[in-house]
Amino acid sequence: MSAHVEIGRQGDVQIIRLNRPEKKNALTAAMYAALAEALNAANASDAIAVTVIFGQPGIFCAGNDIVDFLAASQGGAILHGFEFLKALVEFDKPLIAAADGPAVGIGTTLMFHCDLVFATPRAVLQTPFVDLGLVPEAGSSLLGPRVLGHARAFDLLVMGAPWSAEQAKEAGLVNAIVPAQELESTALQAADAISKKPREGVRLARRLLRGDPALLKTRMEEEGALFLQRVKSDEAVAAFAAFLKKSARPTL
Ligand code: COA
Repeated sequence: MSAHVEIGRQGDVQIIRLNRPEKKNALTAAMYAALAEALNAANASDAIAVTVIFGQPGIFCAGNDIVDFLAASQGGAILHGFEFLKALVEFDKPLIAAADGPAVGIGTTLMFHCDLVFATPRAVLQTPFVDLGLVPEAGSSLLGPRVLGHARAFDLLVMGAPWSAEQAKEAGLVNAIVPAQELESTALQAADAISKKPREGVRLARRLLRGDPALLKTRMEEEGALFLQRVKSDEAVAAFAAFLKKSARPTL
């Protein structure tokens, strides 16, 4: 468990709240482990119908902690995101994300695994993988073109363009843009509505919509192998160091 990830319940809805606002909800090893544990527990529980992921006011998630990336690049640590990604791809219940602010890296790519995404006008989605010397992860190289079409996937996942909530909605990644004060209630109402539907029907319909997960798992393994190589590359090490020296911050 991690103090930076809060797990709650409202009826049949599991609520996961990222709670590391001082570091913009950047994900540490302990946070990934807590997220994976929460998703796996929800998957195994008959009492939970749907899971909702919230960030904090003004920030959804700044992606992987770059200090951990730097440690991994120097062989001092392994990357713990993979167990969370495995839990995401194996999750067999509806998943909702609600973002009020920047969603960077995995903060954006996890949305490809969600069934509903809500955002406020100050949400900005960005995946600066290539600029960090990395490659897209979380199956986004497969799901991105599928959801967005190749041209828009390239803009988001390779160019690293910051997308407004409006762009993300127009591209089909976000369902609705709502005022910040209505974000949580909107997401929870949607979750509640799902939880009242026939559960097995929802599960089967969701599986049909998502298709065979085998291809996705294979792609995630390919991405993961490349990611592990790239995290040690000179390009990546320089980009991580620059971020931590505050000399190369993206402007969102
Ligand atoms: N890893 C580690 N620390 C991070 C972080 C990350 N991914 N994102 C933010 N932080 C830290 C900053 O270093 C800073 O710490 P400090 O106060 O000790 O200096 C603190 O969080 C606040 O971040 P700051 O950049 O000052 O906030 P901002 O509001 O100006 O910008 C973001 C917010 C999310 C746009 C910006 O922090 C950002 O782009 N983060 C990096 C995202 C990224 O590249 N993630 C990896 C994707 S693969």
